[in-house]
Amino acid sequence: MRTVNTEKGFTSVGALTYLLKGSVAMFSAGIAASLVITFLNMLVPELVSFSIDSIIGNEEVPAAYAGIILLFGGIDYLKQNIWIVAAFLLAIALISAAFIYLRTYCNTRANQIFTCRMRDKLFSHIQRLPLSWHNVHRTGDIIQRCTSDAEVITNFVSAQLITLFRIIILIVFSLVFMFMKNVKLALISSAFIPLFLGYSLFFYSRARKSFKKCDEEEGVLSALAQENFTGARVVRAFGREEYERAKFEKQNVYYTGLWVKIEKFLALFWSSNDCIALLQGLLIVVVGTVYCINGELSAGDLVAFISYNTMLMGPVRQLGRIISNMSKAGVSLGRITEILNAAEENYGEVEKLSGDIEFKNVNFSYDEGKPVLKDISFKVSEGTTVGIIGGTGSGKSTLALLLDRLYAVTEGQIFIGGRDINEISPATLRRNIGLVLQEGYVYSRTVGENIAIAADSANENDITCAAREACVHDNIKNFLKGYDTVVGERGVTLSGGQKQRVTIARTLLRETPYLVFDDSLSAVDAQTDAEIRANLAEKFKGATVMIISHRITTVLHADNIIVLDGGRIAESGTAEELLKRGGIFKKLYDLQTALPEELKEAAEND
Ligand SMILES: Nc1ncnc2c1ncn2[C@@H]1O[C@H](COP(=O)(O)OP(=O)(O)O)[C@@H](O)[C@H]1O
Ligand SMILES: [Mg+2]
Repeated sequence: MRTVNTEKGFTSVGALTYLLKGSVAMFSAGIAASLVITFLNMLVPELVSFSIDSIIGNEEVPAAYAGIILLFGGIDYLKQNIWIVAAFLLAIALISAAFIYLRTYCNTRANQIFTCRMRDKLFSHIQRLPLSWHNVHRTGDIIQRCTSDAEVITNFVSAQLITLFRIIILIVFSLVFMFMKNVKLALISSAFIPLFLGYSLFFYSRARKSFKKCDEEEGVLSALAQENFTGARVVRAFGREEYERAKFEKQNVYYTGLWVKIEKFLALFWSSNDCIALLQGLLIVVVGTVYCINGELSAGDLVAFISYNTMLMGPVRQLGRIISNMSKAGVSLGRITEILNAAEENYGEVEKLSGDIEFKNVNFSYDEGKPVLKDISFKVSEGTTVGIIGGTGSGKSTLALLLDRLYAVTEGQIFIGGRDINEISPATLRRNIGLVLQEGYVYSRTVGENIAIAADSANENDITCAAREACVHDNIKNFLKGYDTVVGERGVTLSGGQKQRVTIARTLLRETPYLVFDDSLSAVDAQTDAEIRANLAEKFKGATVMIISHRITTVLHADNIIVLDGGRIAESGTAEELLKRGGIFKKLYDLQTALPEELKEAAEND
């Protein structure tokens, strides 16, 4: 089975539909409630119009109402018992209130379901994105997408999209009622709708770019802050506080300036929009009055018409705001769709691996044209230990990352037990290879929890056992709260060596058949280094081990040693063979063991 990267290929609308799954029924119920509320609202001006014309005045009762009026005892009876009309209004208000409650409940519930699903989908998707994706996306930016952008979308769905539906319902209902009252006046009123809409759309296209720019700059700002806080130690150590502050301030001022520009643009839009709306209202009143005088429209109908017009204009103008806000939501949706569309690594079933590790003509480059590993071929027989040694930047860490499929080889193949690792799911691979990274990450949790991360089922005994093997148990015991000591963010309360050993303990807890130590003993002294290796040899007898180091003594006892130089294998063999050969390894050996020899001589001469 070849594991292929899964790509969703969403459009923005597709992504939204995907995220809306599960909340559609609730949203629809909310919209249905809106429909009832709007219809009830439309009845109020109708009742007012009827009261003015037929109860206060003496206009003939409209044919449509004749039946219902008779049911209540006829128009003369109603004139004597005005309370019946009032009771009607009260009933409308009460039923409306019940439906408003229903609408609010449905919308809130739908909103919860939607927001929860979006958060879950985003987080679990990001968890499955390959390391190469994380390398090119800054943490601050990812966090911004998951918080600010997600919030904009939630707001869009829960407020704007719902309002959009309500507005459409309101517009349709008001237009129907207006056309029933007076066609000519309704035509004048509705002629303004395209004007408002066109104006909004014009604004929409202009605003979109500005909103996008603002979002990007906000991302830069949060990335700046985040990077700075994470690197607080470096900032202090190099006295860069003032520089960092100035850098942040510059970005902050720039970002704020962008918002001021947008706000100015918004102010212009809303003031002109208000002005046109006022003119429209004025026109309806003037023309309506003329029609009234001419006898084309009754006084009650004019009052009702003005009510409907106000009901219509509110939402039509809101439509402008909704659309302009949509431009912001569109940008955010685009940014979230981008995350959802990034190809996930295909996980799948976890199996047990066994057999030799083999690199076959492996070439690799992080950036095209800059090869980091060149034609690497070697074999590690099952149950043996290989030592990998080489200068900084020679590609040692890269080798470990490739084996764990954290990056894909550019050319060539890597096999485990004769299977190309590309055919093995990342989950299987990573469950079978215990990798101790050079830059071990420690969470700001307790030391115990930090070790237990590797295995959910680990008990206290397993944890202390692993800590002992990693020679960190005694250190932890001496902490004030032992295994319950909370480690500062990024492990700042642990020394470099302690941090390394905690990450080693974490890996040992897993008892994997393959172990890779990437310069993981660099920050511990030579004696502890030897002690840990002795523990390993005892407990992981059958394991296939890869020890990467720049310290010659660490790899000295390996079954096979590979010397990397500038991304190529310069030499390989046992320590004895390599020393005899007199190449790089011999040079390194002489260099690293020279000092003790001199000291020894000095001691002997004393
Ligand atoms: N994520 C990365 N993107 C681009 N280049 C990288 C990345 N990581 C490492 N490199 C480069 O690849 C080379 C090998 O790095 P690495 O494997 O970490 O060396 P070593 O572990 O031997 O010190 C170095 O030149 C380094 O600059
Ligand atoms: Mg390295």
